[in-house]
Amino acid sequence: MGEDAFLIVGGKRLQGEVRVSGAKNSALKLMAASLLTPDECVLENVPRITDVEVMCDVLRHLGAEVAREGETLRVLSGESSSCEAPYHLVRLMRASIVVLGPLVARYGEARVAIPGGCNIGSRKIDMHLRGLAEMGVEITTEHGYVTARAPSLRAARIALDFPSVGATENLMMAAVGARGTTLIENAAREPEIQDLAAFLVSMGAEIRGAGTPVLEVEGGMELRGTRHATVGDRVEAWTFAVAAAVTGGEVRVRGVDPAHLGLPLEKLREMGVQVEEEEHALSVRGGGDYRAVDVATLPFPGFPTDMQPQMMVLLSLAQGIGVVTENVFESRFMFVDELNRMGCDITIEGHHAIVRGGRRLSGAEVCAPDLRAGAALALAGLAAEGETRLLDIHHIDRGYERLEEKLARLGAEIGRVGNAA
Ligand code: UD1
Repeated sequence: MGEDAFLIVGGKRLQGEVRVSGAKNSALKLMAASLLTPDECVLENVPRITDVEVMCDVLRHLGAEVAREGETLRVLSGESSSCEAPYHLVRLMRASIVVLGPLVARYGEARVAIPGGCNIGSRKIDMHLRGLAEMGVEITTEHGYVTARAPSLRAARIALDFPSVGATENLMMAAVGARGTTLIENAAREPEIQDLAAFLVSMGAEIRGAGTPVLEVEGGMELRGTRHATVGDRVEAWTFAVAAAVTGGEVRVRGVDPAHLGLPLEKLREMGVQVEEEEHALSVRGGGDYRAVDVATLPFPGFPTDMQPQMMVLLSLAQGIGVVTENVFESRFMFVDELNRMGCDITIEGHHAIVRGGRRLSGAEVCAPDLRAGAALALAGLAAEGETRLLDIHHIDRGYERLEEKLARLGAEIGRVGNAA
């Protein structure tokens, strides 16, 4: 008995309109932030993906009531019955670590399993812990768990070594519970950070500078329940944009702010793809020859590391050689062997990938090694001649809501099949 696979017959031109779901990387943090108040928080536009289900389980383990109705999630944290996020949940999703900040802020204690590495690198949490320590939290790590204790949290001035998304979020949520003004310097500026800050502000927090490198949090306010709509998923939007480009199609993507994809859309235009922007939508028209470009991943507003794997597929179809430099995660090129099996010609040199263009892709049996690489392999399947069987799609289901149904509605020949391996 194996799990599901995607069966893709390539060569279909995508056409039509698709709406992206709420951003995974925001929804998970909004859910964790709901622990900061005993009141009910109503989250709208929450994607139906397995990572959100895992976060529901984490919250329930912490004593919260969680109920879903369509795209709306209600979280009633009440009074916690436990301050522990256990390993059997954290190992399913390392982003569970973001409950650390809110638990410390609200209860002065937390015990969270240390997330392991994953297929894109070792992913340390040292910056999360150092920042908390500067706020007076006593941290011990034993038996695979982080234990945090802070009978009284204090405001601090914290300078991050790197604008880590997760560390910025954890520290921003902890700071909400610390009386006084906390400064987080070299903070991450991703749209999801801005969404989390907006949610916290609507709960009654005082936060300035979200979207800039310096976050200022006025802590100690009483937080109340609120209602908030999750920001649209820019990585999902990018995936459909590239799907249109690699199939020479024409797709309008709704439910996303194009300003959240500034540099990636510029790169598409540089390659010769037509892109139009509206307030909450973007349209992509592909076809003809594309020119290769170079791409270097960086924290926002740089080129997002989560959009890099999909770009490799498009570069493989362009004229010329493109160099992709990965600056955020240490080993995020592991999927290129799978792409090469489909006819790409990509060579890795340290943290650079040399992508030779002008390739004709051919369908093959391949495995999704992680979430975004899995999406890239699906795109390669759409562009390839013949049939692709994409295995291990549970990685894709972690972060895409029914990717195959949305693609099929755009005219792709793709289906989910039971894989009797
Ligand atoms: C988040 C996103 C992920 C995205 C990434 C970068 C979620 C759930 N995930 O991950 O999709 O690819 O941002 O945009 O939102 N680091 C340390 N020490 C730390 C923290 C991070 O060394 O304490 C390193 C990491 O190993 C990595 C880099 O910093 O090399 C960036 O990580 P970070 O920005 O923290 O990413 P995540 O929050 O884990």
